[in-house]
Amino acid sequence: MPTPPRFIARLAGLVAAMGLLVAPLRAQRAAVEAPRGVVTSAHYLASEAGLEMLRRGGNAVDAAVATGLALAVVYPIAGNLGGGGFMLVQLADGRSVAIDYRETAPAAATRDMYLDAQGNVMAGPGSSVLGWRASGVPGAVAGLAHALEKYGSGKISWADACEPARRLAAEGHAITQGAATQFHNSGRNLAQFEESKRIFLNGGAHWQAGDLFRQPDLAATLARLQQHGPREFYEGETARKIAAAMAAQGGLITLADLKGYKVAERAPVRGIYRGHTIVTMPPPSSGGVALLQMLAMLEPHDVAQLGPNSAAKYHLLAEVMRRAFRDRAEYMGDPDFVSVPVAPLLDRDYLKRRMADFSPDRASVSEKIEPGLGAMKLSQIAATSPRESTETTHYSVVDAAGNAVATTTTLNGNFGSGVTIPGAGFLMNNEMDDFTAKVGVKNMFGLLQGAANAIQPGKRPLSSMTPTVVLKDGQLLLVTGSPGGPTIINTVLQVILNVVDHRMPVAQAVEVPRVHHQWMPDQLTFERYGISADTLALLKAKGHTVVERQSYEGGYQGDAETIAIDPQTKLRLGAADPRKPDSRAVGY
Ligand code: GLY
Repeated sequence: MPTPPRFIARLAGLVAAMGLLVAPLRAQRAAVEAPRGVVTSAHYLASEAGLEMLRRGGNAVDAAVATGLALAVVYPIAGNLGGGGFMLVQLADGRSVAIDYRETAPAAATRDMYLDAQGNVMAGPGSSVLGWRASGVPGAVAGLAHALEKYGSGKISWADACEPARRLAAEGHAITQGAATQFHNSGRNLAQFEESKRIFLNGGAHWQAGDLFRQPDLAATLARLQQHGPREFYEGETARKIAAAMAAQGGLITLADLKGYKVAERAPVRGIYRGHTIVTMPPPSSGGVALLQMLAMLEPHDVAQLGPNSAAKYHLLAEVMRRAFRDRAEYMGDPDFVSVPVAPLLDRDYLKRRMADFSPDRASVSEKIEPGLGAMKLSQIAATSPRESTETTHYSVVDAAGNAVATTTTLNGNFGSGVTIPGAGFLMNNEMDDFTAKVGVKNMFGLLQGAANAIQPGKRPLSSMTPTVVLKDGQLLLVTGSPGGPTIINTVLQVILNVVDHRMPVAQAVEVPRVHHQWMPDQLTFERYGISADTLALLKAKGHTVVERQSYEGGYQGDAETIAIDPQTKLRLGAADPRKPDSRAVGY
């Protein structure tokens, strides 16, 4: 006969196995439950490329590299060879590292390069947004190769990791309705560049759902990378193609820029939120610091008791977001060029003081919120919100050993600068727009940025990308991140609150509506259908300007491709974000 406590434990196990006890992270809404590994990304073919590596004995880093390369083929709106990104690696042995392969400003870049003769920020081709002058030196290939070499299992070679992407480019894949819509929505920009029009707009005839999309130039580029290794991109034929096209079209990137590109390894920033360890991206991302600031400002408040979607909760969120984004504008930049006061910004006493004037009844006024460590003068305050794209893309991987990877990668805007390198088949980024073109003038995301983020040769532009891992009692709990420019940080914040405070199943934590405030413009945006009329009225009564989000893809905020580990069963729970039509979590 078992002793009573053992009997009770067995009974509880039996009940749990029958699904009668619902562990908070599991429940029926998880997109996929897998005992060993999960990959989730914005495109199912890219998720499957990662899974292929896991099944072959590769680890989470191997899978992440294959997924990243495949996204460059099947998700060209944001997946890339011509962009950059951040990969946060949390190894099963407890080590963590942030791999920074953000683009850098070319040597010929200057602080005022996007101002016209009158000192106004330029628009159109030649600006920081569109065309040949908009690109920073791409870091994606170097970053992925670095990750594979240093943190891969050793069982997957660089050529192996490139193969699913090469195959997809050579053999083609069926265009989904989602991709057809994305190409169509960006048609005006892409049509301005012959090579982009030829490839991504089907020569002007436009792609339809179901068409076979083959990319022979890109396949050849990937084959060169397989044959000659990743340095080929920076020193070989691909580099020569980039440099020649740039020289011919008035772009800035030279062979020397490409040859000189360097990946950086950085220590993640860490914080504790209600007993959970948050491991996230340090500068040149503003994301990790702002996320930790907001969590620390929220901790004294009983967020769970406010409920997931009350006016009181949204008001509190708006106030912490406003304060964190004010500091972002003032203090953040590339730590290799400016001194970012990370420790003072994360100091608990500072963050307590930052919220000293918080009123549960009244919205603060953004114009009156000073940066907490000393003031900056703004020449102009932007009042309008841009029609923001959701660009960028995030993917998460967990393997059988418990290694985890959160990667956010970007061309910046949808399809980046709109420029495709002739004969190489890939798009270039418009990451230069993430620099401050002029202090006090908003960028494409409506962000006001400071002098710390001014353009300098070799410098990385400030980012909001926030790949993040959450640990509980030293065990992996959550791997997450999102696209969406500045909304990234607030999307990640809300996924974490949904799991930690509201104890939602992970799929629901990803699914439920989100809000966003970025200090300037002074408005709280919400997703379409995301807030009830009475909640809106309560927020307005507190003094908030509340605006329905405008975006190209239906007013949604972000794409938080997330994995949770169920603490009891250790199942990997993949939650593909339903905001993206082709997103998919796959596991084994
Ligand atoms: N390009 C978007 C970001 O880095 O935040």
